[in-house]
Amino acid sequence: MKLINSGPFFLVLVLCLVSCHHSRQSGVKNTPRKIYDFDLGWKFSLGDFPQATGLDFDDSRWRSVNVPHDWSIEGKYDSLNHSGIAGAFLPVGTGWYRKRFEWQKEWENKKIFIEFDGVYCNATVWINGIALGARPNGYISFSYDLTPYLQKGENVVSVKVDHSKSPSGRWYTGSGIYRHVRLLATERVYVPKEGLFITTPVVDEKSAQISVALEVINDGQSLDKTEISCKVVDHLGKKLSDSSAVLALGAGTNRLKMTFHIQNPNLWSPDNPYLYTWHITIKNGTRILDEYQSAFGIRSISFSAENGFLLNGVKTILKGVCMHHDAGPVGAAVPNDVLYRRIKLLKGMGCNAIRTSHNPFAPEFYAMCDSIGVLVMNEAFDGWEQEKAKFDYGHYFEDWWEKDLEAFIKRDRNHPSVIIWSIGNEVKGYTNETQQMLYDFIKKLDDTRPVSQGRGYNGPAVDLAGFNGHGEFKEALKHFHEKYPDKPVVGTEITHSYQTRGVYRTKTWYRRRDFPAPWERGKPFSTISDKIFLIDDLTEKELFEDVPPYYQSSYDNSIVRMGVRDYWKETRYLPYFVGAFRWTGFDYLGESFGWPARTVSFGVIDLAGFPTDQYYLYQSIWSDKPMVHMLPHWTHHGKEGMEIPVVVYTNCGSAELFLNGISLGEKPMTDDLQIVWNVPYQKGKLEVVAKTNGREIVRKSYRTSEKPQTIEILLDKETIKANQKDIVHAEMTIVGENGIPVPHADNLLTFDIKGPGKIIGVENGDILDLNPHKVNYRSAFNGKCLVILQSLDREGEITLTVKSDGLEQNSARVLVKSPGNTH
Ligand code: GAL
Repeated sequence: MKLINSGPFFLVLVLCLVSCHHSRQSGVKNTPRKIYDFDLGWKFSLGDFPQATGLDFDDSRWRSVNVPHDWSIEGKYDSLNHSGIAGAFLPVGTGWYRKRFEWQKEWENKKIFIEFDGVYCNATVWINGIALGARPNGYISFSYDLTPYLQKGENVVSVKVDHSKSPSGRWYTGSGIYRHVRLLATERVYVPKEGLFITTPVVDEKSAQISVALEVINDGQSLDKTEISCKVVDHLGKKLSDSSAVLALGAGTNRLKMTFHIQNPNLWSPDNPYLYTWHITIKNGTRILDEYQSAFGIRSISFSAENGFLLNGVKTILKGVCMHHDAGPVGAAVPNDVLYRRIKLLKGMGCNAIRTSHNPFAPEFYAMCDSIGVLVMNEAFDGWEQEKAKFDYGHYFEDWWEKDLEAFIKRDRNHPSVIIWSIGNEVKGYTNETQQMLYDFIKKLDDTRPVSQGRGYNGPAVDLAGFNGHGEFKEALKHFHEKYPDKPVVGTEITHSYQTRGVYRTKTWYRRRDFPAPWERGKPFSTISDKIFLIDDLTEKELFEDVPPYYQSSYDNSIVRMGVRDYWKETRYLPYFVGAFRWTGFDYLGESFGWPARTVSFGVIDLAGFPTDQYYLYQSIWSDKPMVHMLPHWTHHGKEGMEIPVVVYTNCGSAELFLNGISLGEKPMTDDLQIVWNVPYQKGKLEVVAKTNGREIVRKSYRTSEKPQTIEILLDKETIKANQKDIVHAEMTIVGENGIPVPHADNLLTFDIKGPGKIIGVENGDILDLNPHKVNYRSAFNGKCLVILQSLDREGEITLTVKSDGLEQNSARVLVKSPGNTH
């Protein structure tokens, strides 16, 4: 290890280089750094309470809440709410939070910080009546030093969240302390987490160089003879490299640099999300001043027009989705378990990348992407100086961009998953000067990743040209490449297609022609029809005529400019195209078709987290794991004898379809990326067998269902902890005789909970269902519904019973165990 200290006294030291095995253990226990979960036990009230900053304020009538908390999602959908189309017609306003806490003896002579992962928006924070600061940006993490203001005995933190001006974004934002909060206690000498930067400048299969740039803050007198010990350990905690040095730590910020080498590194990638941990211990004599650690991955990335994206030297296509930060019925207050399930679901689709459109996500998102193995295009802003929604960040950009961007880059730059920084998206009033300014600023903080921008392809200061919808026009990418042959290209939003789970239309719908967006009204389809990728109708006459407005077809035939199959056909072999992020992975609230729709159905997974058929289309083109899927379902009473297009997606070589045991023929998978049979409808069993080289690999079948009989409950976990955080997802499916799902069932379900759990969200994915989410009832939509349960603070057994008029009731049990030590 090589260690250089350039602190206030500009001290430079080069230490011994020690490589692996024979180095000594630090054996340090009882680190003085302590993290206190600060999520539980807040008081909350809607309204403005300027007098609510000090200890003497009586908040006993305020509601008790835990954070993450989003008061907008608790409210009612109402066409009169100012958030409007953008904010899914949910309420906004001003809200106050307060949390009382006792001084701890162990805090004597320590520094105490409060850390907020994100508050939407305009958060002003006080401690014991003293204002600590205000942060307009609702997506950025921030912290305050509480040390000078704490008193022995009781203390109170008050937070005013001013989301009174709306719409403050182009999508649903949520309102409140919607991410985690922590207290952090350190000695006066400590490592600030934004002061650490781990890079891997030299990586190959034989060895890797790990460079660490680090700040150590000394908030006291200068100290000589401080021992700094660092080590790199593998995932089992085995030490691979370490070293220590004794040096002087001046008062203020000390900057250190060190280099490690390890042999035969286990390289990080989506297929092998292997994480190492870097540790530091700072000691003065026998006293430990700080111990800090950070996970990191060893991987190399390179982007070029010649070779596309190379991860560890291997050509890798970004198979990505754009995501907003909300998660259906929980709004913006997304428990870790809910977020984890969402990322896993995407990964199961063959997705290997997520774009955080269009703002920083919660810190745990990046840690999950590191460990699940998902690449991240990490986006800082939607717009810059000019607002895109009436009251959005554009009003604050000039005063805040630098602080927010610095906090963002420093927070996320140690994650191996993060491979691209994005500085904006379809920026209104865009200038090359601002692009250059943001670019230069990022490069000073991190020059290891490329900078891109959603639809920022024609700006000079991007390493990767980002194409949104414009990249979906015929030849658009090719023309760009001819003009800029050296510039690699990323599809920041490709492609935009629509789908509603369980809904089918056999004739193709184009947004411009069939359901124009407000800005498209009056513009004839003919102005774009020869520039977009038309899709043949599946039938001459619409077969499913009874589909209500706003719902979209789940065949690959409801698009803006390009369907999923055309995206893949057009881009997969372009050498300069590094891959694309579809708009979007999940349905998100807001940006809707207009009242009474609360979203716009771009997600290949609906608001309840249920995959649509297009999820499986992606799986068939993105994933290597053998799969087969077919659509539509096989319950079409009244359509007897009519020819129904049955579409099969598979990554196997061919498929054979059977109706009631009779083969309808085997067909090869072609460049069309789907196999179609027109099947005269007759009730019974429809089955597809996917084969490779004539051998069966996988099969799937549907049966015609009659009347709903009962409700199946599928839990994703049967045991959780009594920590008021753990989540169980309970998926309800309405089934008829023999457990056959009833695809159109819309029965009203009621949920009864006994034991130490509560419902934190109900959802069915129906974009027109405007019922509230924090209740114990919901109708099924196209046969399904989701209930999200959260543990309380006591052990026991939760019994969830679901009932519906005319159906047999059903119950499921969840064991709630002691949380153990959660710190
Ligand atoms: C894009 C925009 C996205 C979303 C999408 C909907 O232009 O960047 O944020 O609005 O359109 O079509």
